[in-house]
Amino acid sequence: MTNTFKGPDALKDFLNPGKHPNLPMVELPESLNPFASDGVRIFAKMMGLSPLGNVKAVPAFNMVQEMYKRGELSGVERLVENSSGNTVFSMALAARQFGVARTQSYVPSEISWNKLLMLQFFGIEPIVNVEPQAPVENDPATGVFKARLDGQQPDAMNPGQYENNDNPEAHEKWTGPQIWAQTEGKIDIFGVGLGTTGTLIGNSRFLKSKNPDIKVVGVMRAPDNYVPGVRTENLLNVVDFAWRDHVDALERVATETAYLTSMEMSRLGILAGPSSGLALAGLLKHLKGLKRIGELEGFRRADSGEITCVFPCPDSPMAYLDEYFKYVDASHFPAITNEDDLVNKP
Ligand SMILES: Cc1ncc(COP(=O)(O)O)c(C=O)c1O
Repeated sequence: MTNTFKGPDALKDFLNPGKHPNLPMVELPESLNPFASDGVRIFAKMMGLSPLGNVKAVPAFNMVQEMYKRGELSGVERLVENSSGNTVFSMALAARQFGVARTQSYVPSEISWNKLLMLQFFGIEPIVNVEPQAPVENDPATGVFKARLDGQQPDAMNPGQYENNDNPEAHEKWTGPQIWAQTEGKIDIFGVGLGTTGTLIGNSRFLKSKNPDIKVVGVMRAPDNYVPGVRTENLLNVVDFAWRDHVDALERVATETAYLTSMEMSRLGILAGPSSGLALAGLLKHLKGLKRIGELEGFRRADSGEITCVFPCPDSPMAYLDEYFKYVDASHFPAITNEDDLVNKP
């Protein structure tokens, strides 16, 4: 594969996750893996190292392509979706390749300023929604509900990432097989952050079809804690998928831990955003629990004596830089020398 995209479909192919080589997977160094001496190997699957720089490029392309194939985009002038940023960004760019120029997005009021600028930069129309903290099923106050309603207008379409099977299916067809191949079928534990739960379901389905003994750990935000892209258990109520059928265990991670863990990875060259930190911190928490109750041994492979873990890194820290200064203690950042001389002060 020369990794060159040309001709009339160059851009469509470039945005198609199925037309790229495997996204990189990198093993964490011992400094980030407290279980290295236990024979545990932990790999970060870099979902952000694709043309659009985030995990949602995978389901977004699939959802748009499948809608197009089913003829559902004919006459559609705008897509409308609820999204913390990444889905709608990826979806809007894919949709332009399939003839839909406009995309509108319900965004949570807690969205970072940078993310909002990013949406505007890419020509996506943001609609801010104050989300209920404990939504009930089909809660009319949620952006998910409002986008679904608006999507019923004749000129509009709501792809519905929280209920659209083309979301998890994208990971089943593209991400899962990559992880299986890259670990040479030796993955034992998969740790994954939960947003729409598409990454969880698609990978869990594929990996467990290859080896039903693989353990899947779903990682959520601790109650009342913020991490963009992933949800608390309460907020997972808006997800229509039967995601609980695809996890073996659940872990909860606090905001500061997620941001700090992602910063530690990033400083070593693994450019991983807050939800990547959440996934790794949740996986480590789970390994600690398994070790404490003596169950880690059950995962050890007889031939190598190793236990292989994988967690996806959904995106890089760049879109959230301002948030790190809000959620991570100031002692983690170098001071600026001669700050008074700065022309542009925050
Ligand atoms: C940064 C980030 N992390 C994690 C996720 C969660 O992925 P999924 O929706 O597949 O559960 C998302 C989804 O939007 C995301 O944008």
